[in-house]
Order: sequence, then structure tokens, then C-alpha cells
Amino acid sequence: MEKEIHIYYQEYSSVGELPTPYQQLVEQSKEASKLAYSPYSKFNVGAALLLDNEQIVKGNNQENAAYPSGLCAERVATFYANAEYPNNAVKAIAIAAANSEGFLSVPITPCGSCRQVLLETEERYEQEISIILYGTEKIWVIPNAKSLLPFSFDKEALD
Ligand code: THU
Repeated sequence: MEKEIHIYYQEYSSVGELPTPYQQLVEQSKEASKLAYSPYSKFNVGAALLLDNEQIVKGNNQENAAYPSGLCAERVATFYANAEYPNNAVKAIAIAAANSEGFLSVPITPCGSCRQVLLETEERYEQEISIILYGTEKIWVIPNAKSLLPFSFDKEALD
């Protein structure tokens, strides 16, 4: 028997086409990227989370001379949100990345570890997280973290 998994996502060509709350979230992720601590990669990533109390929480990548000790923008923002607002579900995350020439035209997608953390947050609050990936020419909206991590290991396995 053969089976397939399909991933649904939407593509937009400008921020103005997004629903208004997502437009604001993208702008906040772009702002957050400008405060990244990325002296080694010089690759600035910003993440902005929208919580169910309409609060926006931002984060950016934090690098370290001991490279593996650094952390991606998505996890900095998500862990901060979960630490500061443990009773508020995360509804959406916008992610923007820039190199020395400016924001990338095609979006970056979260690394595997960040996908795992977003999945945990989605399951923790029983709330799907819309993932909005910003690029100057393309913007992708993925409806939940689960679809970014097929065959994931999650807490169900531990029950
Ligand atoms: N980075 C992020 O913050 N998020 C991503 O989705 C991909 C990569 C960071 C980690 C590191 O500081 C730099 O970008 C280069 O990999």
C-alpha cells in the first residue's frame, strides 16, 4: 500500500494581500530581525508571535562564540512567550530573515528543532499556529505546525 502526505499552504506576493493582523505580525517580525545578535552568520532572523490575548511577542536569533549554544529566532520568541504568558495560546508566528543585502526574496522556513518546539506549543494549548513566512517576493502561510513535521514524535507517544 502506498500513501502520501500533502501539505496545504497559501502563497501571497505582497504583505498588503494578507489579512490585517498578519500584516502587522510580519512588520513586527521584520522589526525584530533588526535587533538580532548574529555577529557570526550575519544572518538576521526575526519572529513575532500573536497570542490569544492579542499580545505580540517578538524574538530574534541569538548567536554565541560556541556556535551550538546560540538559538534561532523562532525558539527565542516561543520560549519567551511560553515563559511570560504560560496561560495564553499562540495563534500565529511570522518569520522574516535578512542577510547583508536585505530581506530575502524567498522566505526561510523554520529548522527542524523549531518545528518541534512549535508543534509542542500547538499541542500544549490545543491551538493551531498559523506560520507566516515572509519574503519580499513571496509570502507563504502554513495553517499549522503539525503539517510542517510529518511523522513527528510528540507527547502522544509517551502516554
Ligand atoms: N536561524 C534562525 O534564527 N531561524 C531559522 O529559521 C533559520 C536559522 C538563525 C540561526 C543562526 O543564528 C543563523 O540564523 C544562521 O543559521
